[in-house]
Amino acid sequence: MKLSQEFVPDDDLNKQLRSAKSQLALYAKDLKALLSRERKKSHKLETTNKQLQAYAQDLKAAYSAQQQKTRELEKAYADTVVRLTLASRYKDEETGEHIQRLSHYSRILALVIGLDDQDAQLIFDAAPMHDVGKVGIPDRIMQKQGPLDEQEWDIVKQHPILGANLLAGSPSLLLQTAREIALTHHERWDGSGYPQGLKGEAIPLGGRMVMLGDTYDALRSVRPYKPAFSHEKACDIILNGNVRTQPRHFDPTLLEAFRDKHLEFDGIFSEIREEESTP
Ligand SMILES: [Fe+2]
Ligand SMILES: [Fe+2]
Repeated sequence: MKLSQEFVPDDDLNKQLRSAKSQLALYAKDLKALLSRERKKSHKLETTNKQLQAYAQDLKAAYSAQQQKTRELEKAYADTVVRLTLASRYKDEETGEHIQRLSHYSRILALVIGLDDQDAQLIFDAAPMHDVGKVGIPDRIMQKQGPLDEQEWDIVKQHPILGANLLAGSPSLLLQTAREIALTHHERWDGSGYPQGLKGEAIPLGGRMVMLGDTYDALRSVRPYKPAFSHEKACDIILNGNVRTQPRHFDPTLLEAFRDKHLEFDGIFSEIREEESTP
C-alpha cells in the first residue's frame, strides 16, 4: 500500500500565517521608523556638536583677542613706568644696569622659594620701578656731595611713599605689584625699616625680595660712603652682618634661598656690568 500524504494547509493555518506575516510587516515598519528616528537624533547630535565646536572656537578667538589687548595695555603701562624710572635715574647714583640686575636677583629668589614662572616674571617686571619715587626728591639732596644731614635723610626716606603714590590707582597687575614693591623695599623683617616699620610677613613678598637684591647690589657697588665689595664680602655681610646690615633684616626663607644661589647673584653682577663712563 502506497502512502501518499500531501500537506494542504487548512484555513486556520492560512489565517495564522497571514496574521504572522502582517505582524512581521508591522514589526518591520516599527523598526524602520525607529531606525529613522535614531538617524534623525544622531544627525541632530552631530549638528549640535558642530555648533558647540563653532561656539568654542569663537570663544577661544575672543579670549585670545582679549588677552592680546591686555598684554598691549600692560606693555603700555610698563613702558610709561620705564620712562619714569629713567627720569628718576637722572637724580640717583643707581644705574640702568643696577635696575636690570635687580630684576634678575628677584626672579632667582622667587623661583627658589617656589613661585611659578608667571609670578616670578611679574616680580621681574615690577622690580625696576622700586625707586621711581626718587623723582620727587629735590635735586639739592639727591645730588649733594658728601653725607646727608638728618633732615635730608628724612626727606630721602619719603621716596617709597612718593613712588607708591605715583604708581597708585592702576588696574594693571604689573603696576599694582610695582606699587607694593616701591612702598615696601626699605622695610626690614625685624621691623626696623621704613617708611612704615612693617615687620615679617606684613611686608609683601616682592618688597622683601627687592630689599635683599638691592642690599647685595649696593654692597657690590661703589657708594659715596663705601668702596665696592667683593662677592665674598657681600655674602659675609648679608649672612653674618656688619654695622649697617644684619641677617635679621631679611626674610629667613629668602636668606636661605640667597645662601643656596649666591653664586648666581655673583654671575648676574659680573654679567650685567656698568660700562666704564666715557670721559
Ligand atoms: Fe629705594
Ligand atoms: Fe635700588
